[in-house]
Amino acid sequence: MTINRRQLLALGGLGAAGATLAACGDGASSKQGSDDIEERVVDFAGEHQAGIITPMQNNLHFAAFDVDPKADREAVVDLLTRWTAAARRLVLGGEVSAKGAFGGGEKFPADDSGEAVDHGPSGLTLTFGFGRSFFRDQLGTAGKLPAEFTEMPTMTNDFLRPEFSEGDICIQACANDPQVASHAIRNLTRLAVPTATLRWTQLGFGRAGATGTEQPTPRNLFGQKDGTANIRADEDAELAEHVWIPADSSQPWAAGGTYMTVRRIAMNIEVWDTLQLREQERVTGRDKPVGAPLSGGDEFTEPDFEAVNERGNPKIDRASHLFNVHPAQNDGIRMLRRPFNYVDGTNEQGRMNAGLFFIAFTQTPERFARVHKSMSRDEMFTEYLKTTNTGTYLVPPGVGDDGYIGEGLFA
Ligand code: HEM
Repeated sequence: MTINRRQLLALGGLGAAGATLAACGDGASSKQGSDDIEERVVDFAGEHQAGIITPMQNNLHFAAFDVDPKADREAVVDLLTRWTAAARRLVLGGEVSAKGAFGGGEKFPADDSGEAVDHGPSGLTLTFGFGRSFFRDQLGTAGKLPAEFTEMPTMTNDFLRPEFSEGDICIQACANDPQVASHAIRNLTRLAVPTATLRWTQLGFGRAGATGTEQPTPRNLFGQKDGTANIRADEDAELAEHVWIPADSSQPWAAGGTYMTVRRIAMNIEVWDTLQLREQERVTGRDKPVGAPLSGGDEFTEPDFEAVNERGNPKIDRASHLFNVHPAQNDGIRMLRRPFNYVDGTNEQGRMNAGLFFIAFTQTPERFARVHKSMSRDEMFTEYLKTTNTGTYLVPPGVGDDGYIGEGLFA
């Protein structure tokens, strides 16, 4: 933890939550692992951005922005600088500026909208990413596009809405309190005007994955345990091999960053619910109560794809999700998944407009595409899924106590 009492107080205008933290003095770091999830603080500064290996919080507000076509390099550097300063305050449970929600005078609109005052930091993380379209002459970034940042191919079963996909910049806000995550996006959006405007957003509730070392595996809206075979925060070697961009990448400024792929995947809940339990398990390749592979064992037993049943058929179906996305079928590729459930009311047919907002971090977009290709081509699971929004972003490395997100790109 790099935040101390002096820094907290220096920020000023932290609101009640900040005052509580500040009162903890140098012990603010003890709040990082606090059992009270509303009091938890996650460091903003670090080698990598927070919100990737951070133990998954319960709520998401994802937002993608378009940069004004007339904006230049100076304007985006200014925006990233102001966003970084605001993010440092917000993750401490503070308001977006020192004047905040109430300190700007009665005759002016307040800097901060105020709905997160008294809510606590709630483990808020803010993770920034750049889309391919952010690399352009107008911003002086065209020559900094890494060769590895290839376009995501269209997948079988994609029903994409381009106006709700991609974007120049994205911000993933995760927190244990949904109001804290949404407050952050709302106020960062206000700060962006006129340099950038919202393109599309997605709310997520209920983490459907696990990234923390000891974090129990939760369930997605199909009732499946989701996150069992995920890369966890303490797997340094796996993170270096599969997630972080290495120093010898085509653009050294991106080293320590990663690529984030988001996909809004609608799940056909009503049809899924009519399947026999055994069929649901066959489609997944794992049993439903404990999440064990159908070849046997417990949740964390490695699947045995050679195991056969009494009729000589593979116990784990070749068209199951487990078979197709497992590293054994994908040149050893693994990814760090951070997905959230969503329910956006009902659709035109009166069915649940619900699914998984899938977020994954990989060392290159191409690796993600390779695994997804096996899934969308060969899998029974895709009959129940429909991807409507997508986005791929380069998440730059983290920053220290000074500096701004993405500064390497503009150096
Ligand atoms: C609504 C969509 C999806 C649902 C409900 C879903 C569900 C699951 C479940 C239940 C598991 C097994 C437990 C676990 O290891 O986490 C799993 C594993 C996995 N899924 Fe998905 N998934 C979805 C979409 C995707 C997509 C789009 C990808 C990326 C191509 C993907 C990649 C993976 C990977 C890599 C694993 C771990 C495989 C292993 O190493 O054993 N999933 N998923």
